[in-house]
Amino acid sequence: MTQPIAEKILHLRRLLHHYNAEYYLHHRSPVSDREFDALMHELEALEQAHPELYDPNSPTQRVGSDLGSASFATVRHKVPMLSLGNTYSIAEVETFYQRTAGSLDHAPFNLNCELKFDGLSISLEYEDYRLARAVTRGDGRQGDDVTENVRTIRTIPLVIDRDKGAPPQFEVRGEVLMPWSSFESLNAEREAAGEPLMANPRNAASGTLKSKSSAVAAKRHLDAIFYQLIADEVTTQTHSERIRLLREWGFKVSDHSTVAHSLTEVEAYIDHWDKERSRLPVATDGIVLKVDSIEQQQQLGFTSKSPKWAIAYKFAAERAETVLRSVSYQVGRTGVITPVANMDPVQLAGTVVKRASLHNEDIIKKLDLHVGDRVWVEKAGEIIPQIVGVNVEARSSNPDLGEKVCFVTHCPVCHTPLVRYEGEAGTYCPAQYGCEPQMKGRIEHFVSRDAMNIQSIGPKTIDTLYANHGINDCADLYNLRVSDLAGEKGERQRSAEVMVEGIAQSRRQPFDRVLYALGIRFVGKVAALTLARHFGSIERLMQATPERLTEAEGIGPVIAQSVCDYFAETHNRQLVERLRAMGLQMEMTEEAAPIGHALEGKAIVISGTFEHHSRDEYKQLIAAHGGKNTGSISAKTSFILAGAAMGPAKEEKARSLGIPLVSETDFLQMIGATDTPTPTAESPTPPSLPADKQTAKPTSTQPKQTSLFDDPSLFE
Ligand code: IVH
Repeated sequence: MTQPIAEKILHLRRLLHHYNAEYYLHHRSPVSDREFDALMHELEALEQAHPELYDPNSPTQRVGSDLGSASFATVRHKVPMLSLGNTYSIAEVETFYQRTAGSLDHAPFNLNCELKFDGLSISLEYEDYRLARAVTRGDGRQGDDVTENVRTIRTIPLVIDRDKGAPPQFEVRGEVLMPWSSFESLNAEREAAGEPLMANPRNAASGTLKSKSSAVAAKRHLDAIFYQLIADEVTTQTHSERIRLLREWGFKVSDHSTVAHSLTEVEAYIDHWDKERSRLPVATDGIVLKVDSIEQQQQLGFTSKSPKWAIAYKFAAERAETVLRSVSYQVGRTGVITPVANMDPVQLAGTVVKRASLHNEDIIKKLDLHVGDRVWVEKAGEIIPQIVGVNVEARSSNPDLGEKVCFVTHCPVCHTPLVRYEGEAGTYCPAQYGCEPQMKGRIEHFVSRDAMNIQSIGPKTIDTLYANHGINDCADLYNLRVSDLAGEKGERQRSAEVMVEGIAQSRRQPFDRVLYALGIRFVGKVAALTLARHFGSIERLMQATPERLTEAEGIGPVIAQSVCDYFAETHNRQLVERLRAMGLQMEMTEEAAPIGHALEGKAIVISGTFEHHSRDEYKQLIAAHGGKNTGSISAKTSFILAGAAMGPAKEEKARSLGIPLVSETDFLQMIGATDTPTPTAESPTPPSLPADKQTAKPTSTQPKQTSLFDDPSLFE
C-alpha cells in the first residue's frame, strides 16, 4: 500500500521541482497556476497523511526560488519573505474565516481585503531615508539584488521626505508590475522585431527586472504597488493604517482595499472584483484577505511557509470547452511556423473564440491532440486564447474523434522541409527568399510606422504589389511609378501618386530606421539606433565581428550573432546595395548624430538616472560634442552630468572638490539639443485609397505568434 503512495509522492515532487525551476529560473509557465496549485495541494495532503515520507527538500518545504542569475548579488532577507496559503474556493475562504475566529477565541476581528497583484514580489530597504536595496523574493530567505533596475521604476520613491514621519530605516514589500499598456507596446515592438511575444505581464516584468541593463529596464515602464511595511519603530496597530502610512510616505498602494467586518462583506468584495478587475490597468490574479489588527496577527502566527492571518483567494481563469476541428499553420516574417487551432466557436471572457495559438510542436505533443478532441481553452494573461488541456475522458464516447495531430514537416506555403534550431522551441521555414509570407512580411515590416513609415502601403496593398507588380522585396518598391499603379483609365491616379510620393519621401528616413526596417532578427528600434550610432555606417556595421558588435552598449551575443548571420547572406548584402543605389540613408547624418564643439576639452562624469536619453546616449552625445566621458570624479573633472538619484558619495566628493553639477536639461541646452531624440513627423493622412488598396488593420481574431518559452536573454 505505501509503495504506490511513495512513488506518487516522488513523482509529484519531481514534477513540481521541474515546474518550479521552469517558472522561477527560466520565467516559463509550462502549466497553468491552477494546475500547479492543484498538484502542490495534492502533494501537501499526501505528505501530511504519510509523515514517514517527510523530505526537507520537498517542493512543499520551500516557497520557490528565482535565484540563478549569475550577475546579481545575493542578499539575505532580514525577515523571510513568506508565501500565502491560497484557494480557489469560496467554501475554503469560509473555513479560513471560521478557523481564524476560533483561534482568536471568537473575539471580533476585521479582514483587510486587497487585490492580489500578478507580478513579482520585491523588498525595498530604506536606510537614512534613501532606497538602499531592492531584493527579489528568491527562495524566501535570500534573493537577488536588483536595485539598479528597481531605481528605474518611477513610482518608487528614491528618497523619503523626512517631514512625513517615516523612520530613517524601514523595509517595504510589494509587487513589481508591468501595466497592460506597457506590456502591449512591448509586445508590439517584439512582434515588429520578429521576436517571440511575452505570454503575460508577469513574465515580461520578471524578464525586465532581471535585465542586465537598467537602461533596458527603464524603457519598459514597470510599476510597483506596496502592501507590507516592516518597521520596528512604527507602532500603528492595524495593517490598513500602516498602508495609509506608506501612501503618505510616497509609496504607491492600492486604491481598492477595504476593511471587511463580516464574511458577507468579504464575499461581496470578491464578487465585485472578480468582474471589475478586467478594467484595471494592471493584472490581478486574486484577492488577499489579511487580519487587520497587528496584535491579532501576532496571536495567530505563522506556519513554516505562510502567515496564518492571511489567505489568497485566486480567481479562476475563464475556461471554456469546445471541439478542435483542425490545425492550420501560419508562416511569420522570420519564417517561424505557428500552429493555430481551429475550433467550434465558444464564448470566453466576453468574446467569441474560434482560434487559439498552439505555440509550437512540443506543446502539440504534450497535449497529445487529436482532431475532434474536446479541448479546454483559456485566455493566457487574458488576451491570447490557448488550449490548456484535452478532455481525455470524452474521447471514448466521441464519434468524431479523428487523427492525432502531427506537426507539419514542410512549409505549408512553399513546401520547403522545415528546420528546428538547437535550443529553440520554434520550427522555421528556411526558404527566406522563396517563401511568399516571409517575403511579404518583410515588406510589411519595412513600410511600417516605426521603420520607413510609408503609410500608404498596408498588407492588402502589398498582396497586390506582390501579385501584380512583381514587388518581391523592399528595394523593388523604389522602382514603382505612378503609371504602373494608376490603372488603365487612370482611375487610381490620385492614390498611385500618394503611394509613390510616400515611397520617395521615405528616402529621407535616417540610417537607424533603415537598419530597423531591414528586419534583422532581434534588432528592434533601440538596438538599431544603438548600432547605427556606434558604427555610423552600414559598411562599418557589415564588417563588424560579433566581438566588435558586443562592444556597442546593450548589444548582447544574441543580437550580435544575428547581425553577422544577416550580412553573411549574399542576398542581404545585395539588398543593401540596391537600397543604397535607390538613395536610402546608409550612414548617420549630422542631423541624427549632432556634432558640435560645446564640450571640447571637458572631462565629464555621468551620474544618476536620466529622463530624456539613456546613459549610453549621453556618452555618445558627449563624444559627438568634443567632450570626454570619464568614470570617476577627480580634480580634473570639468563637471558632473547629474541625473536623478545620484549616489550620495559622489555628490559629497563633487562638493568637496568644488566640481559643478549640471542637470540633464542644462546639459541638453549646453549642447543645443533640447529636443528629445529622433522625433518623427507624422505624415499627413493620405487621401483614401480604393478598397483593394486600403491598409488593412490587423485582424483581432488572428492569434499572434506567442511563445510560452519567452526568452529573457533577449533583454540582455
Ligand atoms: S501579502 C506574508 N498582499 O502574492 C505574505 N501579497 O502568493 C506577504 N501578492 O509573494 C504577501 N498581491 O508576491 C500580499 N496584496 C498582496 C499581494 C501579494 C500580490 C503576491 C506576493 C506574494 C504572493 C503570495
